[in-house]
Amino acid sequence: MPNPPSERLLSALAELLGPRGFTRAPEDMAPWLTDWRGRYHGRAAALVSPASTEDVQAVVTACAGEQVALVPQGGNSSMVGGATPDAAGAALLLSLRRMNRIRSVSADDNVLVAEAGVILAHVHEAAAGAGRRFPLSLGAKGSATIGGLVSTNAGGTQVLRFGPMRSLVLGLEAVFPDGSVVHGLSALRKDNRGYDLKQWLIGAEGTLGVVTAASLKLVAAFGSRAVAWVGLAAPSAALSLLRFLEDRLGEAVESFELVPAAALDLVLRHVPGTRAPLARSEPWNVLVETVAPIGGPEVAARLEAALGAALEAGHGRDAALAASDAQAEAMWRLRESIAEAERQEGPALKHDISVPVAAMPAFLETEGSAIERDFPGTRIVAFGHLGDGNIHFNVLAPPGAGPSWVEEAGAEITNIVYDRVTAAGGSISAEHGIGQTKRDALARTAEPARLALQRRIKAALDPAGIMNPGKLFP
Ligand code: MLT
Ligand code: ZN
Repeated sequence: MPNPPSERLLSALAELLGPRGFTRAPEDMAPWLTDWRGRYHGRAAALVSPASTEDVQAVVTACAGEQVALVPQGGNSSMVGGATPDAAGAALLLSLRRMNRIRSVSADDNVLVAEAGVILAHVHEAAAGAGRRFPLSLGAKGSATIGGLVSTNAGGTQVLRFGPMRSLVLGLEAVFPDGSVVHGLSALRKDNRGYDLKQWLIGAEGTLGVVTAASLKLVAAFGSRAVAWVGLAAPSAALSLLRFLEDRLGEAVESFELVPAAALDLVLRHVPGTRAPLARSEPWNVLVETVAPIGGPEVAARLEAALGAALEAGHGRDAALAASDAQAEAMWRLRESIAEAERQEGPALKHDISVPVAAMPAFLETEGSAIERDFPGTRIVAFGHLGDGNIHFNVLAPPGAGPSWVEEAGAEITNIVYDRVTAAGGSISAEHGIGQTKRDALARTAEPARLALQRRIKAALDPAGIMNPGKLFP
């Protein structure tokens, strides 16, 4: 069990970090002590915001000396309470937001080095400025930071083509719980010198150390892109449409996102300035994006022809091709606003599950109606990354239910969902991580040998349990 910090430690940190890097004022800390969805409310002994790796190292070393807990935080957009401290108030909240420099961009190496507090949208801009592209994006790109994206192995809407953070991180600089720093900001594509420490930290949710910077893989900029919205009868049609388009357009297909009528309706209701892309409401929709390299083929005409053939072959019912960049952005806005619209709608259970891709359509059709039938008043909003076998299988609370519904009645539904996912060979955490929300569910559903090895890794690197306690493990 970590200890509360001594006054001596707090004064030493205040002196080291200065007024911009250290505060105990409740009003300064308050915005960072509640998670994005307002489900968890934590407390902290202080908010420490170092501006350099050396200062992070000094903070970790000082905390290790007294066995004081640290909760790393970036954009505070965790969906699972992964960056919110517990209510005891003994931990220090370690904000990486001041570490917001892009250290280098190399078009020749195809590498960008960003500090942990850099916001994803700024990485996109810096890569574009060098004529390249960082091919990972998600709805929270305006607030999510590189450290959090690494620590949760974030996915987003281009995993289909480029993979999640695990595929896009070439190296990490990180401070480990004993205060040691590993300077691993590699630009190497091949490196077989034993254990790959960066992969231990990716997806570790800050429980093994503090990521301070990452070297990220860039890819070629695209010459043109096309975005379309397709209406369909069922998720099975969406999967056959994806394979049909891949057969014809190959790797040009970069995004393929499933949006049910229930999700589109929420967005149209809650997000100002949005409108439906198709004349008639369809039970299911997909947003598809294809790209062509600079000087490549006319991508919109190719997508239009492929979609025409797909509709003729019965893989969809209606389609709209964005005729301008503004229309393409409007379609993306519909997709990327689902989480926000759902938040405004009220309490919901969020399950970012995966099953093998081919099993997902049947899973959605069977499990969705079973839950709505067995728990009257609930509504399933199942959307997202069908091509990755990862859907946000969210369950909205019955009308009038308060926030406590999530912990009370919701727990039974979540157990059912996770049991069915596990039985289907799937994962209870395909995207958002375990955090606080899923630590008991992980302990219940994970293979015991795997969990035991994970615990031994944690104990070896962080024997005093100071790094992000209460996350990942019960
Ligand atoms: C998404 O795909 O929109 C995000 O993962 C957010 C969510 O699950 O609500
Ligand atoms: Zn997602």
